[in-house]
Amino acid sequence: MNREVKTTEDGSKTLFINEMNEGYHSSHGALQEAIHVFIKNGFNLKYNCGINILELGFGTGLNLMVTISDFLEKGSLFPVHYFALEKYPVLPKEITELNYASLFDFENAEKIYRKAHECEWSTETELLPNFFLTKFETDFFQLRNIPMPGIDLVYFDCFGARVQPDLWEKPLFERVAEKMNKEGLLTTYSSKGSVRRLLKELDFLVEKKPGPPGKREMTNAIKQ
Ligand SMILES: C[S@@+](CC[C@H](N)C(=O)[O-])C[C@H]1O[C@@H](n2cnc3c(N)ncnc32)[C@H](O)[C@@H]1O
Repeated sequence: MNREVKTTEDGSKTLFINEMNEGYHSSHGALQEAIHVFIKNGFNLKYNCGINILELGFGTGLNLMVTISDFLEKGSLFPVHYFALEKYPVLPKEITELNYASLFDFENAEKIYRKAHECEWSTETELLPNFFLTKFETDFFQLRNIPMPGIDLVYFDCFGARVQPDLWEKPLFERVAEKMNKEGLLTTYSSKGSVRRLLKELDFLVEKKPGPPGKREMTNAIKQ
């Protein structure tokens, strides 16, 4: 796949796949979107105790970085175990070009960002005290074969249904739901009606939330 680095409207960069005409983040602002969808409507709502996070898919690692930034701001009081799946890892030269560490002012941001990308797959790595990352280089549909503890927070960050419709249908949401604890929260930038309906079918309590810049709505779903 031919990927190129592009700058989004808030000045932060993203990857763009020309063949698919699809970006890894919103063109209105990659950083703003990550903070709005995954921190404001995700991490902030669940991080009042130790939590397990599952991300589909890991990609550039921007969601990991916004999570670490907020975790540190909140005093890193409780442990975070972050699990992430990715089938098409980003390349070292893309990581350098994205330059995401420059978006954050926490200590050792560059070192932590590098370590997150360079650490071994399928092995838990302590990225900083109380924050653990385990990445799996695999297809999302292998989720049933991946051991992990009950998940409290899901960052559902797949490419859009226009390009990967199978990732927005029941089989994948079923596999994700199986991994989640009761009262676990799934957050996604998508506002698709069909996605909300099938999450309800899978016994989630579904809430529409205002979307990030450039998007009217997004979705939160709480497992019952
Ligand atoms: C919208 S991008 C978001 C990535 C990431 N959250 C970020 O902030 O950069 C979707 C990611 O899913 C990955 N992906 C696509 N299909 C996949 C599959 N079937 N299994 C695992 N990963 C997949 C892509 O390679 C890409 O990294």
